Amino acid sequence: MAKKIETTPIIEMRHISKAFGAVQALRDVDLKLHPGEILGLVGDNSAGKSTLMKILTGAYHRDSGEVLVGGSATNFRSPHESRDAGIEMIYQDFALCGNMDVGQNIFLGRWPVSGWFVDRKATQRLLETMLELKRQGVAQIIISHRLQDIFAVGDRVMVLKRGENVGERDIKSSSENEVLHIIVAGRTEAEKKSARRRKAK
Ligand SMILES: Nc1ncnc2c1ncn2[C@@H]1O[C@H](COP(=O)(O)OP(=O)(O)O)[C@@H](O)[C@H]1O
Ligand SMILES: [Mg+2]
Repeated sequence: MAKKIETTPIIEMRHISKAFGAVQALRDVDLKLHPGEILGLVGDNSAGKSTLMKILTGAYHRDSGEVLVGGSATNFRSPHESRDAGIEMIYQDFALCGNMDVGQNIFLGRWPVSGWFVDRKATQRLLETMLELKRQGVAQIIISHRLQDIFAVGDRVMVLKRGENVGERDIKSSSENEVLHIIVAGRTEAEKKSARRRKAK
């Protein structure tokens, strides 16, 4: 059998924890992104998705853990610094610059919206742009509540729940239903512990 070759991840986050006062936004979270890979990052509201990405770009500072880019430890103090390393975060709620196409807007950090609804056509073009960037070898992380979009372009999907990793699947060998189940029923460490305690009684 052929050995699966494990390439060095282009991005690796290890044991990331972050609290905002009493709120533990992230607890011991791991993330790997391989060259040319599209990773879907999903989970309910407040799961910690944005915080994890902001830590990656240096917009927020982690309490503990490591961020490696191309195998080297980094400590970005701001999104300016991560941008210099080729890392860019694009937000959904920026206005589209009308005279440019979606691809150009992506590089400006804008994502098209019209009113409260993301225009389907614009989303479609965006997903196509992601696939084009993938062909050029660009690794990408997509955060979306629309699993169908993640399944349309993604290679792998990682689920966060209340600030913890609760599951991960290869898109090819999974289904939207399976991932939805992890989002809803995935267990955090605290939940596993209390389940064990109940069982022991
Ligand atoms: N700047 C902040 N100050 C205080 N609490 C924050 C801040 N950013 C995020 N949080 C809290 O951290 C948790 C995770 O939030 P977030 O990363 O935005 O989750 P998601 O993007 O998955 O919805 C939430 O409880 C949220 O209220
Ligand atoms: Mg968010």
